[in-house]
Amino acid sequence: MKIKDNLNISGELLMKSGSPDSRLEAEILLRHVLKIDRATMFSNLENVLDNKQENDIAELVQRRLANEPLSYITGTREFYSLDFQITSDVLIPRQETETLVDEVIKISKENPLKIVDVGTGSGAIAIALAVNLPLAKIIATDISVDALHVAESNTKMNDVFSRINFKQGNLLDVLDEKVDVIVSNPPYIPSNQIEHLQPEVKKEPHIALDGGSDGLEYIRQLIGNCSENLNDNGHIFIEIDPSQSEEVLEIADTHFPDAITAIIKDLSQDNRVLSIHLT
Ligand SMILES: C[S@@+](CC[C@H](N)C(=O)[O-])C[C@H]1O[C@@H](n2cnc3c(N)ncnc32)[C@H](O)[C@@H]1O
Repeated sequence: MKIKDNLNISGELLMKSGSPDSRLEAEILLRHVLKIDRATMFSNLENVLDNKQENDIAELVQRRLANEPLSYITGTREFYSLDFQITSDVLIPRQETETLVDEVIKISKENPLKIVDVGTGSGAIAIALAVNLPLAKIIATDISVDALHVAESNTKMNDVFSRINFKQGNLLDVLDEKVDVIVSNPPYIPSNQIEHLQPEVKKEPHIALDGGSDGLEYIRQLIGNCSENLNDNGHIFIEIDPSQSEEVLEIADTHFPDAITAIIKDLSQDNRVLSIHLT
């Protein structure tokens, strides 16, 4: 079968199963098997696939039809213009999380700050910060040992292995020094909403999604324990669901009545980040 015919068949199967980007996904799966870039694929549309290539592509399309996320199939994801290795042990980094990285970079540019990324998962936030803030000292924590293995291998892939100190444990409990910035994308989906998530999101680690009965369990704990871990003038940046804006501002104001608090929007203009600046 020619490459162009294979793309049409896979694209149609994926479209029928409801994928909004069916053609693009068909291209990505084919290119993953053939290990070619997009330009090469387009200049070889008339080339004929051998049997093994056809079977390998068909197998990946079947996995996608069974709602396995594309990043788990290809094992990669781009975040903050960097490449990350992704396995089913980690949340797939989302574009909206880049807002957290932007905010930390804005306040850090000229100061060599000590930063902790709580619940680092694939290491996306910590690594994007290490690459963009060469003077920063960065600690990354996660309760999941498997996630920390993935994060560590991503530091090697992005040449920042020696820049990040990984610690395994609950939230800030493992911190043995004060920091200037606490940044976190914690689990924040209410437990009773997990079963209603899209099937492919449900394939991501439960521990990365479930934020307890109202989704705010980890955010409350984090904010509640921040003060003993933060230096004067410290900053806290926490990713939230837009629907949680008012509640997280209340939590922040209760714990830090004198701090400057704000909700920052992501690129889609959704409320995405709780910012607390201790004064
Ligand atoms: C929403 S994911 C975020 C992953 C990554 N930071 C990102 O933005 O793509 C939440 C992460 O928090 C971790 N986590 C869950 N409970 C935790 C806890 N009690 N202490 C530390 N990390 C926790 C999960 O293992 C997961 O990696």
